[in-house]
Amino acid sequence: MRDKKYKWHKIAESPEELNWAANGMATVEIKGKSICIARFEASFFGFSCKCPHAGGPLSEGYIDAIGNVVCPLHRYKFSIKNGRNTSGEGYALKTYPAECRPDGLFIGLEEGGLLNWL
Ligand code: FES
Repeated sequence: MRDKKYKWHKIAESPEELNWAANGMATVEIKGKSICIARFEASFFGFSCKCPHAGGPLSEGYIDAIGNVVCPLHRYKFSIKNGRNTSGEGYALKTYPAECRPDGLFIGLEEGGLLNWL
C-alpha cells in the first residue's frame, strides 16, 4: 500500500496562540475546511469539525478521558487518533495529522485523493 503524502500547513507559531475553548478544542480554517484541534496526552490531533453522522458541531462536544470526541447532538464517539466510531454506529470521522515542531504547530492535509488519481 502506498504511503499517504501530506502537505503541511502551519496554523500557529505555538499552540498557545490558538483560541482554545473551555472544552480543550480549537478550530482553524485550512483551504475552506473547518478543522478541530484537540490536545490529548501531550499530543495534538486534528479532525473534521463536522460529525459524520448528521453534521453535528464536534467543536461544541467534548473529549472524553480516553481520547474520543463526543458529538453534542447524539453523543456518538470518535477516536481523535484515527477517526474510528468507538460507540459502534459505523461512521468514520476524518482525521488530520498534527505536529508541534520547534517552528510552529502544523496540520497535514492529504495530497492527491480521488480527484487527482489520473
Ligand atoms: S450528528 Fe453527531 S452523533 Fe448525530
